[in-house]
Amino acid sequence: MIIDVSSDNVTQPTAEMREAMRQAEVHGFGVPNDKIIDQLEELAADITGKEDAILMPTGTQANLVAILSQTEPYQEVIVGPDSHIYEQELGGVGAIAGVMIKTWASPGIPSASILQETVQPSYRFPTIASPKPTLVCLENSHNASGGTLISVGKMRELCRVAREAVPKIHLDGARIFNAAASAQTTVRDLSEGADTIMFSLDKCLSAPFGAMLCGPTETIARARRLRRMLGGYIRKAAILAAAGLIALEKMTQRVVEDNSRAASIAARLIAIEGLIVDPYPVPTNLIMINLSTLGVDPQVFAEGLKENYGIASHVYGRYMVRFAVHRHIGLKEENYIASAVEEWVGRTINESGSDHEVDRQER
Ligand SMILES: Cc1ncc(COP(=O)(O)O)c(C=O)c1O
Repeated sequence: MIIDVSSDNVTQPTAEMREAMRQAEVHGFGVPNDKIIDQLEELAADITGKEDAILMPTGTQANLVAILSQTEPYQEVIVGPDSHIYEQELGGVGAIAGVMIKTWASPGIPSASILQETVQPSYRFPTIASPKPTLVCLENSHNASGGTLISVGKMRELCRVAREAVPKIHLDGARIFNAAASAQTTVRDLSEGADTIMFSLDKCLSAPFGAMLCGPTETIARARRLRRMLGGYIRKAAILAAAGLIALEKMTQRVVEDNSRAASIAARLIAIEGLIVDPYPVPTNLIMINLSTLGVDPQVFAEGLKENYGIASHVYGRYMVRFAVHRHIGLKEENYIASAVEEWVGRTINESGSDHEVDRQER
């Protein structure tokens, strides 16, 4: 048996979702708006407090379409250096939207002053040749920094700074429901400062696929054309929208359990000598384990966890392994994961300790 915490997108659709998919009426070419897709899009717009929304096949395409629909080629788009858009989406925005990407200086959620220096750099004397900063992309929760949060107050501050230099703000809110649960606020409040927000249906919300892009009517109308251009129009999407609708109606409140399960697992892990959980306490459903003090290669650590204990995890960078907690991780899995990591850390330390011993003898 594999306990898969490599991502929260491994969640299985619920029985209710599968039944709704079975029953969904689908239409072929020539029926532009299936009722159930309309319903899903209306609900997404309402939840985020935006005028309209569009169902997209993936979060990556939703981010790309958000950028395409709010920029012109050669304009400047400002993102985080470790944002999903920059690090995990293969430069699609450069290749397809033709924009220039600029990143702020340090990983994670920027401070107001770091963002300010990026959008209005002190070295820049604007001339006809200068880049035109057009769009800032924020990420909440922030994946690569361990599910860290932008609170409502911080979002207000960052948006105020961004708006002094750019007309548009996009929020990559793949896990915005986890962020809202943790901040004890609403997705609408967390999205307020952004023109557009995308969120995933297939992570902690358990739908089989999809993401919603929400924003002003005009932008979403452009997004509909651009989705078509990218081949992201799914003809019989009603089947998938039926599951997406259940995700939004029934699954958004329960993500609080994933956040608190992540907190309990992290509390066990932090007690293991030499193991760093960063950030700690964990803000949402992601747990980032930093292996730098143990001196263990994360690839070796993750492979060992899988081979010896059947736990699938995700390597992040040179030092980190990420666990993503989701609906299929209950108390039994919590205990198993914590004990397995405890034992595996003990074994890797002993094994590398004996390697050091050999090194010393050979010297
Ligand atoms: C923060 C963030 N944004 C965007 C995406 C992209 O979503 P998708 O995998 O649906 O393309 C992900 C996926 O993990 C993500 O973590």
